[in-house]
Amino acid sequence: MSKNILIINGPNLNMLGTRQPEVYGSDTLADIEAMCSDHGQGLSLSIDFRQTNDEGEMVTWIQESRATHDAIIINAAAYTHTSVAVLDALLAVEMPVIEVHLSNIHQREEFRQHSYVAKAATGMICGLGAQGYTLALDALANCLDS
Ligand code: DQA
Repeated sequence: MSKNILIINGPNLNMLGTRQPEVYGSDTLADIEAMCSDHGQGLSLSIDFRQTNDEGEMVTWIQESRATHDAIIINAAAYTHTSVAVLDALLAVEMPVIEVHLSNIHQREEFRQHSYVAKAATGMICGLGAQGYTLALDALANCLDS
């Protein structure tokens, strides 16, 4: 049976394409979703791709995924740097988590260089733009297989 991957995108990522393209690239979130669906098919992973601007909704999706999904890819966007609630939810579900950021958060403002999500993540990919999402799917295919 194919594994179910939840891909969660946080606040303002619905504005990709027009939002600071010099930082985040020109792909829209719909482009990234299409890329993930295609790539997932090749890896026999089924993709559930979502975006929210709401921290509580993000926490609820993570909690619910325990019963319905096998792993999570998360770009928590600004909540990466602020949300103990998102961290606690990720720790509670006890499944593989790959953290993704389009930009290299370690080259940016100091407040972006700390990630709460990282404390719950199996691994982190940042600075590679949209490709980070497909690399995260490759990593999960590997880790769910073994
Ligand atoms: C981001 C980096 C965050 O610092 C920022 O708040 C975002 C996007 C990224 O993908 O590079 O919204 O997560």
